[in-house]
Amino acid sequence: MKTMDWYNGCLVLLDQTRLPAEVRYVRCKKPEEVAEAIKTMKVRGAPAIGAAAAYGLALGAVQDNSTDKESFIESLQKISELLGSTRPTAVNLFWALKRMMKVVYDTHSDDVSELKELLLQEAHKILQEDLEMNRKIGEYGNSLVPRRAGILTHCNAGALATAGYGTALGVIRAAHEAGKQIQVFADETRPLLQGARLTAWELMQDKIPVTLITDSMAGYLMKKGRIDLAVVGADRITGNGDVANKIGTYTVAVLCKEHGIPFYVAAPVSTIDMTLAAGDEIPIEERESVEITTIGGQEIAPRGVRVFNPAFDVTPNYLVTAIITDRGIVRPPYEESLRALF
Ligand code: MRU
Repeated sequence: MKTMDWYNGCLVLLDQTRLPAEVRYVRCKKPEEVAEAIKTMKVRGAPAIGAAAAYGLALGAVQDNSTDKESFIESLQKISELLGSTRPTAVNLFWALKRMMKVVYDTHSDDVSELKELLLQEAHKILQEDLEMNRKIGEYGNSLVPRRAGILTHCNAGALATAGYGTALGVIRAAHEAGKQIQVFADETRPLLQGARLTAWELMQDKIPVTLITDSMAGYLMKKGRIDLAVVGADRITGNGDVANKIGTYTVAVLCKEHGIPFYVAAPVSTIDMTLAAGDEIPIEERESVEITTIGGQEIAPRGVRVFNPAFDVTPNYLVTAIITDRGIVRPPYEESLRALF
């Protein structure tokens, strides 16, 4: 199962809105289609969004008719803006677009066809490197997992959210591969149910023991001593170690603190935004009310009710026991330990 692939000059995406009922792939031939796929969450999860955007820009480049470098750059900038306007929170999106544009700025050649080829190669590299980073995160993170452990995770930070293997689920996969007796508890993750639809599905595919719970059950399980650690992904980590991740992550972190349970965040360095000092500077995406007022197209709330639907929250650094990156495990004080990674 692949989240995305480049095939016959198209970006092929596993349509995550259809899972687990249906495994269906969509083909994106134009950057506009990639932007739409990101916005509607056919592809989602911070690293996957970044890689898809890189391919979106490569698609736009390949199809561009400019004959000179200047107008080529101009149209790339427009495509980059379009892709960058899809989802504001995951910094990997902007990281990938910036990295792609840098290829054009830094290459001395004025040969547009050569630049097009280089852009496509860069998108391939972003995808390949993400997979490698996740394996490293898994290796480092495994050292934090006891031989027997109940592990809570929130949302989906797995193969589906990345180029493969996953970040938080990468840690879980590595522990499972090491023969550890783990039991994963997956928060269903309202409102879009990434935990129920994607994490449970993904873990079951790999035969990793998983139990699905609703978001409100985590505290009860902790009180019962069933959770030994929590591990989640991230959409953006600021210079002080504050972490934006799927709405409900903060609640999990607070519960962990109350119960003396380690709360780990697993993320590649592409998720770390050293340009922001603290979490309150992170733009938080708000999504449509229909995501909350309906389930599977069925209305579950009175029509016209006022709704608040932030897609992410910010967990303050003092609740984060450690951040597991592809360059090692960092611990507080994060201002120093994160800076040392770069
Ligand atoms: O809205 P989503 O499904 O894109 O949110 C995904 C998450 O919050 C993930 O935990 C995060 O992107 C990390 S994915 C490795």
